[in-house]
Amino acid sequence: MQFDTIIKGGTVVSSLGQQRVDVGILNEQIYAVDDLSDAPAETVVDATGLHILPGAIDTQVHFREPGLEQKEDLESGTRSAICGGVTTIFEMPNTNPSTVTAGALQDKLNRANGRASCDYSFFVGAATTNLDNLFELEMLPGTPGIKMFAGSSTGDLLVDVEEHQRKVMQHGKRPMAVHSEDEARLRERKGLFGDHPHVRKHWEIRDAEAAVISTKRMIRLSAETGQAVHILHISTMEELPLLAEAKANGINITCEVTPHHLTLNSDAYESLGTLVQMNPPVRSEEHRLAIWQAVKDGLFDVFGSDHAPHTLFEKANPYPKSPSGMPGVQTLLPIMLDWANKGQIKVETVVKMLMERPAELYGIKNKGSVSAGFDADLVLVDMSKQWTILNSWVQSKCGWTPYHGKQVQGSIEHVFLRGNHVVKDGIYQEKRIGKAVEFDWK
Ligand code: DOR
Repeated sequence: MQFDTIIKGGTVVSSLGQQRVDVGILNEQIYAVDDLSDAPAETVVDATGLHILPGAIDTQVHFREPGLEQKEDLESGTRSAICGGVTTIFEMPNTNPSTVTAGALQDKLNRANGRASCDYSFFVGAATTNLDNLFELEMLPGTPGIKMFAGSSTGDLLVDVEEHQRKVMQHGKRPMAVHSEDEARLRERKGLFGDHPHVRKHWEIRDAEAAVISTKRMIRLSAETGQAVHILHISTMEELPLLAEAKANGINITCEVTPHHLTLNSDAYESLGTLVQMNPPVRSEEHRLAIWQAVKDGLFDVFGSDHAPHTLFEKANPYPKSPSGMPGVQTLLPIMLDWANKGQIKVETVVKMLMERPAELYGIKNKGSVSAGFDADLVLVDMSKQWTILNSWVQSKCGWTPYHGKQVQGSIEHVFLRGNHVVKDGIYQEKRIGKAVEFDWK
């Protein structure tokens, strides 16, 4: 038997540890993780000095197609993903039109076919108009399930009334991704700051209490209905004990943290202005440090980027007309590898939270691990290489990153998508071979 590709001499990383071992690929899958020094292969890739990680799975990106393609489209968004070592993305439903019907989901799947550079799946948005269809919608091929905006952000998707939120939760089986901010509180706070507050007020307007009120309600409704709820982009220290207690009590709650909330703090409103404006907001250093402590305590399930590109032209609008959101899919893995190099987190934990756990949480078939039988989605990283993140490196249509000029350690040298060598020596190979993700969800 001859392998299609053998990756030789690298160090494979899992949540359990690191191992110097070869990886043999056949028919787009990992066939052997073993000493393959005498095995024949069509292609041999020398990974000496490199770490071999499973491809990253980013379970929260906004790729803007259809309707908002001036910011991003499926081609540019997935190219940005693959160049950042992200081989699978879950895309959010707040496009135009919103993804709230089977037809809108199919439209996204059709658009991605032949144009996507990584594997993909599209959330269906919960709305008051599709409540009765959610059971069928969440089980359609090509979706990881339902996303609910409990507080409003970009777009018009919103389920803010408790009775409706309860109904949404009564109509789901798969983990439901939730944007958790209380809409009534957000409206009330907006009114208190006048028409032209400075963007530095963003995190006081959308205050911690707005997140806390909503997250308390999400936990209560999850306990009441039994619905698994995955709370996205946690931003406050006050939510942390609530989530820890809910988990300890066996309530079916999981949660995500973004690199933005771990890396940036409210000082960034002075240096980056509206560029750093996102929902829920980046907050003070006290919140950032508490969230890091919770990562170390094992509270969070996954890292997600909340890649939310807007053009610089749109961002130049004076606050609060400026849109909320920052790009992040391409910097997600590099920023977390840099934190690993700084000793904040083990690279094994990065693999757990960015590859293994997302696959397990959503029941993704054959992804998230460098093991025989899994898709050969691999990222080969040089943990010692220092480089500077620049806007010119960003493949997203928006063309900027909040980390422009930041020196980081840990670079993405090669990416394999189902055995195909799609990024070579850091250079994208223009292979648009992404497929819809398959799930093992019953
Ligand atoms: O800041 C944000 N921007 N938060 C969200 O939840 C949505 C996102 C977007 O789509 O722009």
